[in-house]
Amino acid sequence: MSDTFRAFFVDKRDDRYDASIRDLTLADLPDEPVLVDVAYSSLNYKDGLAVTGKLGIVRSFPMVCGIDLAGTVIESAHPAFAPGDRVLVNGWGLSESHWGGYSQKQRVKAEFLTRVPAALSFEDAMALGTAGYTAMLCVIALEEAGVTPAAGDIVVTGAAGGVGSVAVLLLAKLGYRVVASSGRPETRDYLKNLGAAEVIGRDELNRDAKPLERVRWAGGVDTVGSRILSTVLAQTKDEGAVAACGLAAGADLPTTVMPFILRGIKLLGINPVTCHPARRDRAWTRLAEDLDMAKLKAITMVEPMTRLPELGEQILKGKVRGRVVIDVNR
Ligand SMILES: NC(=O)c1ccc[n+]([C@@H]2O[C@H](COP(=O)([O-])OP(=O)(O)OC[C@H]3O[C@@H](n4cnc5c(N)ncnc54)[C@H](OP(=O)(O)O)[C@@H]3O)[C@@H](O)[C@H]2O)c1
Repeated sequence: MSDTFRAFFVDKRDDRYDASIRDLTLADLPDEPVLVDVAYSSLNYKDGLAVTGKLGIVRSFPMVCGIDLAGTVIESAHPAFAPGDRVLVNGWGLSESHWGGYSQKQRVKAEFLTRVPAALSFEDAMALGTAGYTAMLCVIALEEAGVTPAAGDIVVTGAAGGVGSVAVLLLAKLGYRVVASSGRPETRDYLKNLGAAEVIGRDELNRDAKPLERVRWAGGVDTVGSRILSTVLAQTKDEGAVAACGLAAGADLPTTVMPFILRGIKLLGINPVTCHPARRDRAWTRLAEDLDMAKLKAITMVEPMTRLPELGEQILKGKVRGRVVIDVNR
């Protein structure tokens, strides 16, 4: 094992936010029980916020960013893990209050670790990353709310983004008729290839909705919030359900109680960050079973840590399509 390795840091001094790749030794890592040889991390919307210093995502400095990681256990002082175990971490405050996955090595709490399903490579696991795992949590929540493929159309908003793309892939594979909403007309063929039966423009939903509108959806996966989510709620049919996991359009929700009290629809909040480990395992097992990995590979690009500042800006501008894996060893 070489003595030094590289990690992507952000730091804040006198209100100046800067990002850099630094050399570290094992002695610099946090005092946590499991040492992981990181193979890959990924880029999510939240990583864009952290890397560029927006919304106060990072709570202590200096911080190693990266809300995801996948790799092999090298050392473990915890009985649940041993050298050679294939593990991943999603969320749990990585890149917020704990050092994250943009590092060739990282020490983490054992409770944060999920075992990588045997069918998935580390690259597959990070092609999914928090975005894919969040999409799966949304699908599971819809299933639990009784939304079946026979119930009708499912709308996915922010469809060409990371969570949206995997949600379209998953729902189509499971037999749902998916209507993808995107602000980028040029992603039409891309979304059709993922399995969307129909693609609609973002503007159809991005407006002030009436409290109740003509019903269009049996359910939805919303990654953007704000007026788009309120329009989806106003158009969801009786007893339907909408899983909400994002705020790319805004954190507000200008709605009324009408869809809830007159149509009995359910708004399902998805919190991947501190989700219970049993539910995480279930989501990852389902991802390994239900996803077309060849299609996932086709919408994934692999990039080095040096491109993170630029990619962080791009994801916040809604310009990243599909998923970005970060190869921390390149
Ligand atoms: N709660 C959590 O821990 C958690 C976990 C994962 C994700 N999330 C959230 O889920 C959302 C999506 O994450 P992601 O990683 O998939 O990000 P992403 O790849 O950037 O996707 C977001 C998509 O939203 C659409 N969008 C962007 N700006 C918009 C705007 N101003 N108005 C309307 N739509 C807009 C774009 O899709 P189109 O171009 O197709 O319209 C964009 O591709 C983020 O808000 C993220 O914070 C939350």
